[in-house]
Amino acid sequence: MKIWIIGRWGTLALAMQRKCREKGIDFIATSRKEVDLESEEAVKAQFETLAFTHVINCSGYNAVDQAEEESDKAHTLNGEAVGLLARLSKKKGNKLIHFSTDYVFDGKKEGYEEGDKVSPLSEYGKSKELGEKLLMEHCPEACLIRTSWLFGRDGNHFVKTMMKLMEEKETLGVVSDQRGRPTYADDLAEAVLSLLDKSGTYHFANEGETTWHSFAEVIKRKLEKKKKIRCRKVNPITTATFGAKAKRPTSSVLKTEKFSPPHWEIGLDEVVSDAFKLK
Ligand SMILES: NC(=O)c1ccc[n+]([C@@H]2O[C@H](COP(=O)([O-])OP(=O)(O)OC[C@H]3O[C@@H](n4cnc5c(N)ncnc54)[C@H](OP(=O)(O)O)[C@@H]3O)[C@@H](O)[C@H]2O)c1
Repeated sequence: MKIWIIGRWGTLALAMQRKCREKGIDFIATSRKEVDLESEEAVKAQFETLAFTHVINCSGYNAVDQAEEESDKAHTLNGEAVGLLARLSKKKGNKLIHFSTDYVFDGKKEGYEEGDKVSPLSEYGKSKELGEKLLMEHCPEACLIRTSWLFGRDGNHFVKTMMKLMEEKETLGVVSDQRGRPTYADDLAEAVLSLLDKSGTYHFANEGETTWHSFAEVIKRKLEKKKKIRCRKVNPITTATFGAKAKRPTSSVLKTEKFSPPHWEIGLDEVVSDAFKLK
């Protein structure tokens, strides 16, 4: 077994590489510089020249608001490039694992199961929906994992942004009318390794529903135990007041019956502790 991990420096890709190293699984990881997924030639060359059994696609256009203005870019990477990986994986007999998002749902339901109808509200969500469709159309043996509110030891995400802002600002306003389930990248990576020979759609998120505001308050409490910060208060604000470009589902809680994930606070403890380790 050898895994090709795409998106070398991303939050999930780095967690995936750590897990593979821990378990002694052979892998290669590439960044956009090495294999640009937007170049059909480069992707084909990778399939021709390298021997691998699995492809784990951790790349993605994830700038949700920017995608409203750059929908072509989002559709190319999150949609068409996934179709290309699916066609080539099918042809070569590789197991392909790809990730999608809670933002393919419209948020009108209490919680979402794998078979629920998708109905994205944003260009980002639509581009991820296209990726899901092309993945299953061209490679029905593939594995699709939907996840939500991803954070980890590496990369840029909500937890890192909050930690930085809490050191700089006395008060913060964080949206309190969107519900979801945070996902710790290391826990997701562990779940991925349990799906290497599986096909179909899976939902993975950590235990515990929350709002961005409550999530931020827990981050603040954990950060305060490590150091003195400027931030005194995290104020709840509405989605309308925040005024983001892209529409987001009000409640995008993924149901994860196929797993028994740990609570996200355990992962958050690791991320906050990791930020204070000497490297
Ligand atoms: N973040 C979330 O909250 C969230 C929620 C639900 C689902 N997901 C999904 O989970 C997966 C992993 O997300 P993540 O947050 O770990 O991603 P991330 O940290 O944003 O990393 C994405 C990676 O994709 C790479 N990439 C961008 N364009 C590329 C191209 N043309 N060719 C090759 N690589 C390219 C980037 O490389 P460069 O740095 O070189 O651009 C980057 O390393 C994605 O499918 C994402 O949509 C994420």
